[in-house]
Amino acid sequence: MFKTIEWTSDGVRMIDQTLLPGEEVYRTFGGFREVAEAIRSMVIRGAPAIGVAAAMGVALGIKNSSAQSIPELRKDFETTADVISKTRPTAVNLFWAVKRMRETFDGALAGTGSETEKIARARARLVEEAQRVLAEDIAINEAMGKHGAALLQDSSTVLTHCNAGALATGGYGTALGVIRAAVSEGKKIAVFADETRPFLQGARLTAWELAKDGIPVTVITDNMAGHFMKQSKIQAVIVGADRIASNGDVANKIGTYTVAVVARENQIPFYVAAPLSTIDLNIASGDEIPIEERSPEEVTHWRGIATAPKNVEARHPAFDVTPHRYVTAIITERGIAREPYVQSLRALFP
Ligand code: MRU
Repeated sequence: MFKTIEWTSDGVRMIDQTLLPGEEVYRTFGGFREVAEAIRSMVIRGAPAIGVAAAMGVALGIKNSSAQSIPELRKDFETTADVISKTRPTAVNLFWAVKRMRETFDGALAGTGSETEKIARARARLVEEAQRVLAEDIAINEAMGKHGAALLQDSSTVLTHCNAGALATGGYGTALGVIRAAVSEGKKIAVFADETRPFLQGARLTAWELAKDGIPVTVITDNMAGHFMKQSKIQAVIVGADRIASNGDVANKIGTYTVAVVARENQIPFYVAAPLSTIDLNIASGDEIPIEERSPEEVTHWRGIATAPKNVEARHPAFDVTPHRYVTAIITERGIAREPYVQSLRALFP
């Protein structure tokens, strides 16, 4: 099995997702600026994986810092956190991870000991914490899988959009984790993977990892989903999320909203699988979620080849928001939430 991301003595090692499925290349990033660039350029992507990369990036920034005093180290922490935080705006897991690392950092400096001891402790603790974020993420996905598997019927076909699999997380996946758990319980599940224009996370990544696992997968272009739903070829939809507002509105890969509306039209359940680190209780609704606008060139070109005439306008919002009324249930590591989400989501938090 491949490893999406891991900590090594040389830095943070990731599978380069921009090259899949053609090439399975692992790259090691030795500094926090390189990790930030890997997030921005989508060498690593998917909300929980971005969270893990952010935590490791912060750890790397402090590990490599040459600061000799606590004020210098704090300054380096702020620079690192700032650079990492400016990579991608939508997945709240990134900000969740930076906050968690900040708490660890403050805790390490607050203890007893000399300034030199505190600096050494902060360095060591941040590295440990980043590795813990990764290990916990995998365990969380497995727990989510167990809760969600009960929602999938035996001998059914499930549609997914984008990639919410092992590649989008520390391992196992959120939406694909639920599918994996159902399959390991003995259910026969087939997957329809939306291609997911323009970055093709469905065709390139979801199909790649499901095929590796021997789970039957059929790639369709995004505009075919409605057709197959109307023909009763799809029994459930399951997707991941980049940020969920307190009212249950879900930001996920562009195109998710369309899928949810067509699923409702066809009375097909629409499930979202996401860890608590994706739920943003600080915002009331999806209207407050910042939507990343990526380069229009990702729409007009594919790996340098023009797919649209020169000089035409193009837009590239990378995410959309599905209103909570279309969401049948939200699967988390602490159980399944349903309407009214304002209450059910809050109740999941300690
Ligand atoms: O732009 P991406 O590839 O980072 O977008 C990823 C998604 O939209 C995923 O569905 C989401 O992050 C959930 S991943 C478990």
